[in-house]
Amino acid sequence: MPRNPMHEMLSQPTHDERARQSWVFTLKMHIGRKVRPGNRLIYDRLAKPKFEKAHGRGPSDRHQVGDVMCQEPGYQFFSGLARNAQELMWDSLADPIARNIDRLSAAYARLHASPNRKGSVTLDPAFKPPEGIRQVNIHLQPVNYAEDYGGDDVMAGAFYEAGSNLYSMSGGIGTVEGKAEVIQRFLKERYPGFTPTRILDFGCSAGSSSTPWALNFPKADVHALDVGAGMLRYAHARAESLGARVHFHQKDAAVTTFPDASFDLVVSHNAMHEMPLKTQKAMFKESFRLLKPGGIAIHQDVPLRYSEKDAFGQFDASWDLKNNNEPYWEAYATNDPVQMFCDAGFPKESIWMGKYDQIDKTISWTVSTARKP
Ligand SMILES: C[S@@+](CC[C@H](N)C(=O)[O-])C[C@H]1O[C@@H](n2cnc3c(N)ncnc32)[C@H](O)[C@@H]1O
Repeated sequence: MPRNPMHEMLSQPTHDERARQSWVFTLKMHIGRKVRPGNRLIYDRLAKPKFEKAHGRGPSDRHQVGDVMCQEPGYQFFSGLARNAQELMWDSLADPIARNIDRLSAAYARLHASPNRKGSVTLDPAFKPPEGIRQVNIHLQPVNYAEDYGGDDVMAGAFYEAGSNLYSMSGGIGTVEGKAEVIQRFLKERYPGFTPTRILDFGCSAGSSSTPWALNFPKADVHALDVGAGMLRYAHARAESLGARVHFHQKDAAVTTFPDASFDLVVSHNAMHEMPLKTQKAMFKESFRLLKPGGIAIHQDVPLRYSEKDAFGQFDASWDLKNNNEPYWEAYATNDPVQMFCDAGFPKESIWMGKYDQIDKTISWTVSTARKP
């Protein structure tokens, strides 16, 4: 299945709304491809020489690069424009969602009550979403990931999916293959002959990566978890409308409460970068506890490793932390998945971490994997 499939839970924009979204798409592409690369020139030609003149040496880390770059009008222009484009993106998505929200809630209620329902959603009214998610509207999404307006509310999921589709496409990420399909190719290549029967997807959001596991492994029981009820109702309805059998749960990735050894494959897709380090570490420990002997963990995420970048590259990559409500960006960019796997109990020789290309080469994801003995 390609990334961003059509289904009943999408809010169809009107002609004018689509035109507005198209404009945001073009603006974001332009900023990413034409304006942002100019920051390196601003640094080399203006900011760095000023720092050298004042200190007799170049900036030694991303913070010092930031001190001088933030004084440069060219960088200030980029940063203001990029922030505005992100806000415009959400504005352009809000109108169609507001117009469609009653239909989406009704679709959730119908699909959830259907006798032909394939999967499920299990919400826990006593569950308290982690404060670190609750208090921040990640990447400026107007409705918090953990938001729940009660009843048949699906608002957080509707915003998440619409936003991530527009955001990733305007970032140039191709739509021929979704993240889960990339990892399914990886799984086949690295672990030939391995056919999982019980799969868990940590931090599933609207379920865009959970459904390809169910559709491509139809005999497997696929479970997925996240913290927000509004997100999970949406994910459930979306999966049902795609005919995918997924069981969604409102749980914390750090303490899932599933029994020991209950899965043979655990995965996460773009989840680590939305978690503080202690939660990432706990998720790796849960990965070990939840796997059966011989089971496999694969955690995939955005290519953001600071260790692969110079001081300017790290500063550039940290833009989202300061300007796009991404509080855990650096906790992810500086983490050590190999050590986290070791600490969780996985044997060192079973661990691999590296890059794996999307099929159209529009992005090379960071992937870490390990196998339980
Ligand atoms: C960028 S989204 C993941 C995208 C999704 N996996 C996909 O491929 O479409 C990150 C998700 O991690 C979830 N998350 C963050 N902390 C969590 C935690 N402690 N337990 C479960 N989910 C968490 C957030 O609520 C958010 O939905």
